[in-house]
Amino acid sequence: MRKRGKPFRRNDTSGAGNISRATQSDTPNRMEQRTEMTLKTEGTPGNGRFHGTVAVVTGSTRGIGRAVAEALVREGGRVMVSSRRSEAVDETVATLQGLSTGAVAGQVCDVRDPAACHALVEAAVERFGGLDVLVNNAGLGRFATIQEMEPEIWDVQIRTNLDAVFHCSRAAIPHLRARGGGWIFNIGSLAGRNAFSGGVAYNASKWGLLGMTEAMMLDLRHEGIRVSCIMPGSVNTHFFEGGPHPEHDWKLQSEDIAQVITDLMSFPDRALPSKVEIRPSRPPKR
Ligand SMILES: NC(=O)c1ccc[n+]([C@@H]2O[C@H](COP(=O)([O-])OP(=O)(O)OC[C@H]3O[C@@H](n4cnc5c(N)ncnc54)[C@H](OP(=O)(O)O)[C@@H]3O)[C@@H](O)[C@H]2O)c1
Repeated sequence: MRKRGKPFRRNDTSGAGNISRATQSDTPNRMEQRTEMTLKTEGTPGNGRFHGTVAVVTGSTRGIGRAVAEALVREGGRVMVSSRRSEAVDETVATLQGLSTGAVAGQVCDVRDPAACHALVEAAVERFGGLDVLVNNAGLGRFATIQEMEPEIWDVQIRTNLDAVFHCSRAAIPHLRARGGGWIFNIGSLAGRNAFSGGVAYNASKWGLLGMTEAMMLDLRHEGIRVSCIMPGSVNTHFFEGGPHPEHDWKLQSEDIAQVITDLMSFPDRALPSKVEIRPSRPPKR
């Protein structure tokens, strides 16, 4: 069991050293489930706040997820990054490995596929020897009124923003338990409590995620597994068409959300900030 009052810092070195793309111990079945394991590297074990902490961050090749992955690696964490595109995963791993503090590995994972969610978590455990933190970040927003929302687009959003959190969390929980506790961060949204026209699918997914996160928190808190919903307002990322806007410096930056997570992870074990709302302090006046 982790020592009370300490942030997520691990002293073990399991998972250190290079491994091949597929280890000898893989069963054929597991190999089938696994999406391609891309680049991986070990940095120099540093003295960061999260030295030795193992994290999986879904959708971490850009935006909020990438900033979270980078913040953890910078502070000594060992992070499995992922997204749907192998080039983006390779580029992210190559860039983060340049930080040479923690360690980073990458795996392609479309979180809409439950088997891929499971394989992603297993790859992190196999690579780094356990799991301490899951950041359910992958998500997207497609906006249309109820009349105009195509059923396929509804389905994509619910599967990505909501169902995937269920599947990734179910895969992660036994491994968090095995470490004596851990943390699951679900990236929700202020749209999880403020509805707007055109938000039928996005509101539903994030509203559902908030409820799900609170229920998970109650299910898991006595096992030392903390579950938090981070609910940002506008963040200047590729979430919006056209990507980050140079003139939108009033918006939150991805690093701000990463800071929320690393700050929460520095709380003592006894404290569980279960829901955090964060918004731009000075949005344009309407
Ligand atoms: N930006 C905002 O204003 C804002 C506000 C509140 C909440 N959020 C939430 O923050 C989270 C991250 O959004 P962001 O703003 O950082 O968006 P982003 O810049 O578009 O990044 C999204 C990331 O998720 C990945 N992704 C998308 N669909 C995926 C899938 N099916 N499987 C695996 N990875 C997938 C993307 O990579 P690929 O496309 O290559 O797979 C990318 O790495 C989302 O849950 C979003 O709802 C954003």
